[in-house]
Amino acid sequence: MTTHSSAPHNPPSPRPAPPLWLLAELTYRCPLHCAFCYNPVDFARHSRELETEQWVRVLREARALGAVQCGFSGGEPLLREDLEVLVSEARGLGYYTNLITSGVGLNEARAQRLKAAGLDHIQLSFQDSTREVNDLLTNTHTWQLKHRVAALIKQHGWPMVVNVVIHRLNIDHIGRIIEMAHELGAEYLELANTQYYSWAHVNRDQWLPTRAQLQEAEAETDRWRSTLGDKMRIFFVSPDYHEAKPKKCMNGWGNVFLTIAPDGVALPCHTARMLPGLAFENVLDRSIEQIWYESAGFNRYRGTGWMKEPCSSCPDKEKDLGGCRCQAYLLAQDAEAADPVCPKSPHHGLVQAALEQVETRALQPQASGCSALGQNQPHGTAQIHAGLIYRGPKESLALTSAPASTAPP
Ligand code: FES
Repeated sequence: MTTHSSAPHNPPSPRPAPPLWLLAELTYRCPLHCAFCYNPVDFARHSRELETEQWVRVLREARALGAVQCGFSGGEPLLREDLEVLVSEARGLGYYTNLITSGVGLNEARAQRLKAAGLDHIQLSFQDSTREVNDLLTNTHTWQLKHRVAALIKQHGWPMVVNVVIHRLNIDHIGRIIEMAHELGAEYLELANTQYYSWAHVNRDQWLPTRAQLQEAEAETDRWRSTLGDKMRIFFVSPDYHEAKPKKCMNGWGNVFLTIAPDGVALPCHTARMLPGLAFENVLDRSIEQIWYESAGFNRYRGTGWMKEPCSSCPDKEKDLGGCRCQAYLLAQDAEAADPVCPKSPHHGLVQAALEQVETRALQPQASGCSALGQNQPHGTAQIHAGLIYRGPKESLALTSAPASTAPP
């Protein structure tokens, strides 16, 4: 595929730095159905996957360009039977390798093979400290499996990051979540407040916590930090909606991160392919070096030259680079707009309205998240439990309208 953006862009000067992080999204297939998944909502329309030798070429080209960290993610990367081959190749090239997994598919035999391949690090996702919420949010029964996998990771001597996406249905359990991660032997715990794009945006009204919930969660996290000291590092990823502070998304567009989607499309972030007027190029058609430095997609929002007001005259524009382009598009239908979480944005009222709605709903006891456990309502072709639309191929096709290029996985 050779595609070009129709949007104007200026090639950056001086030349951008090379990518440091390669994120290899090996597959969009996944045994879980998380209703906050960061895969694109239309993932079922992009079901082709690169072959092993094509991924090997990606690893080599990105390393030659300067990438030093390699994350294998998905979907569920353990569904790729060639994962060990790719880890071994990456390790041999000198990358620090990280497996980002739900844990499904990691058994003793696989762990031994990944250890022999040289895998450095595993990031294991949990959804909650309770079986009920874990299984509700993933629409699976994976609670015990995740605990078994955590034990396996420790037995094999890997450093472990436990990642938990935080939202209204689990934020009140944050103390117990921290305690659970500590009991599992995690070196790091990432409490990632939900960022509202992809499936999390679809389900945003179910996920947004109240301000009081958030304040209590931060205070509880600080109490645990004091208790645990250096035994486990806890990262509390800020929720930009509540903080009214745009994040420097991906540490800058085309600045540090290079994401390769399962079908080989190179992206500055995992959801950028939804932005209209921007078509991203495929590693099957051009070298990664050409894509990184020369493509319209990667140059479109580099630096600050693309900005309009209020960003272009903002004293903080170098700090936050105007926030998140995907969020600007999702909320304001304009990817060039200031991120609406910023109080200076003319669209900031959209974020305020969403937050006000949460506070109003919180006063209605029947609307609080976990009280809805066990409900199961069919809604068109989308599967909905407790008002959540789950990530799945059927749901992906139902929520998007373009004709499918290939059969869904
Ligand atoms: Fe795409 Fe922020 S997620 S720019």
